[in-house]
Amino acid sequence: MADRYLSLSATAPGRFLTRRLGLPQPAALRRWSAEHPSLDGGLLHLTAGTSALDLPPVLARTGLTPASSPPSPSSLAAVVLDATGVRDVDTLAEVHAALHPVVRSVAASGRIVLLGAPLDPEDHHRAAVQQALEGFTRSLGKEIGRGGTVNLVRLTDAAAAESTLRFLLSPKSAYVSGQVIGVGTGAITGPDDWSRPLAGRTALVTGAARGIGAAVAETLARDGARVVVLDVPAAERDARDLAARLGGGATALPLDITAADAGERIAAEVPDGLDALIHNAGVTRDRRLVNMPAERWSSVLDVNLASVLRTTDALLAKGALRPGGRIVATASIAGLAGNAGQTNYGASKAGVAGLVRALAPRALAEHGVTVNAVAPGFIETKMTAAVPLLIREAGRRMNSLAQGGLPVDVAETTAWLAHPASGAVNGQVVRVCGQSLLGA
Ligand SMILES: NC(=O)c1ccc[n+]([C@@H]2O[C@H](COP(=O)([O-])OP(=O)(O)OC[C@H]3O[C@@H](n4cnc5c(N)ncnc54)[C@H](O)[C@@H]3O)[C@@H](O)[C@H]2O)c1
Repeated sequence: MADRYLSLSATAPGRFLTRRLGLPQPAALRRWSAEHPSLDGGLLHLTAGTSALDLPPVLARTGLTPASSPPSPSSLAAVVLDATGVRDVDTLAEVHAALHPVVRSVAASGRIVLLGAPLDPEDHHRAAVQQALEGFTRSLGKEIGRGGTVNLVRLTDAAAAESTLRFLLSPKSAYVSGQVIGVGTGAITGPDDWSRPLAGRTALVTGAARGIGAAVAETLARDGARVVVLDVPAAERDARDLAARLGGGATALPLDITAADAGERIAAEVPDGLDALIHNAGVTRDRRLVNMPAERWSSVLDVNLASVLRTTDALLAKGALRPGGRIVATASIAGLAGNAGQTNYGASKAGVAGLVRALAPRALAEHGVTVNAVAPGFIETKMTAAVPLLIREAGRRMNSLAQGGLPVDVAETTAWLAHPASGAVNGQVVRVCGQSLLGA
């Protein structure tokens, strides 16, 4: 179901009309393409407080050229503000002082990335101003406009955050805004070829015959992975067609993920092990609780949560995820904010976030595997095309970018989490929602 308002407001009369009526002004987002893999414009590196990060070598590898100073209007592809040294209200003022003069110079679809320190419970002054960066980030995300995004990364080691910074400073993160992402420490080895980071790796995507899952399969294949396209037997034909299109040894696995032996069947399909397990399959069966029969509850919980728990446990127990492996599960903003008519769905998706946070440290310590989640907002798929018109329109507009995301936006975020250099990103639930007004 095409977003006609987005197309209309991209025309000159449409822009005039929507501005006069005070309606949302969605910008055409700049997404990744092989022809245009980088954002256009310069990169400005600013610092607030005294930082210990060794950032310049990492920023030099993003492919963006350093910006001239002072920057001319709309000349900046990205601004990185290192605020890890912000310790008190006085140094917090340096955040304002650094960004105030340059915000106007950020180009359409530009990026502002703040870098903060992990919150320190031993130092409540520092914790207060570091937490203040979150409110700042989310507020600026709502102001920036013209398809720009604003995110905060908490880190102590710039090298460990390279894959994250490359992602946030690229067109691949077009629909990720207002996020706070924690990056840990640890030796990270980058891939030999950053344009095919998953070469030689095997990824399995559940629910991959269509929608977001198909986009994830395509994006992981683009990045060099051999992909196993898993979907229900009824979707076998689409799954086989997609695997044939992907090439690179991709195969289809017709399997209902709720089958009790799904983990064993997957392990048998990939005898040499998996490098990425993407839990994407999901269903909705909406009804208000008062009208919801037990079957609607259990079918949603079984696909969206119980099968994720079962197959994850089975594959980890069998050692089917190789060290350096990645698990990426699919939550939803409905699980973070709640949604009328979706007590079953909201519960299942909040459960996914709980699974990720609890399992992540153990999976990394015991198996060398990271566990993260993407939490999509309103994404244009068959699932959301079935939503009634008015609710669909509200879903599209109620975010800072005033439009729905595309399946590829979730796919690019998944590919960043599945990246071999993303080993210090663990236990994160990253929203791909254009900074939806729903939920924190
Ligand atoms: N579209 C959105 O706006 C949105 C928002 C938040 C979260 N999500 C989540 O993203 C994921 C993908 O959503 P989508 O919009 O692409 O949905 P979709 O309905 O278009 O595709 C889901 C796919 O999962 C498959 N599937 C369902 N049950 C399965 C099972 N038991 N075993 C194997 N495969 C099964 C379906 O056959 C289908 O191919 C889901 O987990 C969904 O909850 C979507």
